[in-house]
Amino acid sequence: PHQPIRRICCIGAGYVGVPSSAVIASKCPDIDVTVVDISAAKVAAWNSDRHPLYEPGLSELISQTRGVNLHFSCDMIGPLEGADLVFICVNTPTKAYGLGQGKAADLTTLEAAARHIVRTASQPKIVVEKSTVPVRAAESICTILRANERPGVRHTVLSNPEFLAEGSAVQDLLRPDRVLIGGERTDEGQEAVQRLVSVYARWVPKERLVTMNLWSSELSKLVANAMLAQRISSINAASAICEATGADVSEVALAVGADSRIGPRFLCASLGFGGSCFQKDVLNFGVPCLNLPEVARYWESVVTLNQYQKYRFADKIIVDLFNTVKGKRIAVLGFAFKKDTGDTRESPAIDVCRRLIDEGALLRVYDPKVASSQIRLDLNQPEPDEASDAAVLTVRLLSCEGAHAVVICTEWSEFSQLDFGRIFASMAKPAFVFDGRNVLDHEALLRIGFRVRAVGKRL
Ligand code: NAD
Ligand code: UGA
Repeated sequence: PHQPIRRICCIGAGYVGVPSSAVIASKCPDIDVTVVDISAAKVAAWNSDRHPLYEPGLSELISQTRGVNLHFSCDMIGPLEGADLVFICVNTPTKAYGLGQGKAADLTTLEAAARHIVRTASQPKIVVEKSTVPVRAAESICTILRANERPGVRHTVLSNPEFLAEGSAVQDLLRPDRVLIGGERTDEGQEAVQRLVSVYARWVPKERLVTMNLWSSELSKLVANAMLAQRISSINAASAICEATGADVSEVALAVGADSRIGPRFLCASLGFGGSCFQKDVLNFGVPCLNLPEVARYWESVVTLNQYQKYRFADKIIVDLFNTVKGKRIAVLGFAFKKDTGDTRESPAIDVCRRLIDEGALLRVYDPKVASSQIRLDLNQPEPDEASDAAVLTVRLLSCEGAHAVVICTEWSEFSQLDFGRIFASMAKPAFVFDGRNVLDHEALLRIGFRVRAVGKRL
């Protein structure tokens, strides 16, 4: 029998690191979990009651475990030194400079994490890549570790990509479709795999614990995200055809999704997908295909279609508002990239709002979970001194007064509960609704008197 894991250190206190660590801490009371981050402000926020991100069910988990067997620290030495197993959960954004700019992954944080680990480690550790990385990143980590290991200390690298989605992270972690663990086919590698398997086996059924070789595990994560993104681009491409022909994309999705080989989920046409990962991972997947240009072009088209969908939506607003939005007030509902999160990374709302601002529109943006300072930052808007003529106003309570259009960018459930009769009464006429998520009752809006535009259907 192998040595049980007693102490875990997680590097990166973000959307992946914290929910994963909190779930492990709650399911494994005998394991001590410390999450470390270079951002002292983030660590302080996790140690307070004002957490830096919103994720349903996470605060409850943290209040049960923090100070018991879950800790947050910016000490990058002690918790790493004491850990048997280290999860690397740092961000791996797209490179914004130099070679591979705009496509390749920026692996600076990953390498920094590997160097932190090896600098302190006097005991052998299992180093687990949880961040999403290009295939064979584990080899780079391994090489850095080997070159810096102390004599007699040999670390093992595993790949354990994370499949949680924001807004449902805790549920996804508690009941994952599968947990993937990749390791080298050596005795050490396989022992490390089994030690990590026994952590998850506390709450994940055995048949969902899938082990494989390192490179398959790394690549599976990229393929999964690329295929999810491709599915959305496929239904969004269909939505453009629906609008041109009079077909209804919701009906098409229903019919297509009823085929058990295709399945009904993840077929909602929208103003485009967002989030920190889909675009990055699709492009990342394309990069190793540098010598396979057809393959790279195929995946790039998923991103191209997504850009097209965002601008198609924004341009429809401009065209339908009689080809000018200059000086017109437009109420934007929702700014996060999806509901149940406050995350705005790559949110399609950003592209849509920027396009409208460029055309001279005066936006009022409301999101239940995004701070107005974040909205201003994403839209490059300074704090307004004169509320009346600012390009972007963020309001806690929606005011659509005088607006020419209401634009839905995020599918927050509360938006379908709004009193659209009152909203209509307060708006400029003709009053438009552009539903970028197909979440409103379009027939009811038409009866009120709205001109309604949705994605992939004519109304
Ligand atoms: P994030 O930005 O929310 O968190 C990453 C954290 O790492 C930040 O707090 C940052 O300060 C910290 N960090 C960076 N360099 C560090 C270093 N050298 N030492 C210590 N801390 C450091 O990112 P995220 O959304 O949690 O994503 C992390 C990884 O997981 C990415 O590779 C992403 O692709 C992948 N992933 C994300 C999701 C998701 O839904 N967000 C889901 C699955 C996988
Ligand atoms: C996605 C994957 O679903 C996770 O499995 C993966 O772990 C994660 O990326 C990651 O690697 O980061 P996430 O981006 O958090 O999770 O959220 P999704 O639910 O996948 O939504 C992504 C975007 O697609 C959102 O903007 C969403 O509104 C949009 N979407 C989703 C649609 O437009 N239509 C759909 O039918 C589904």
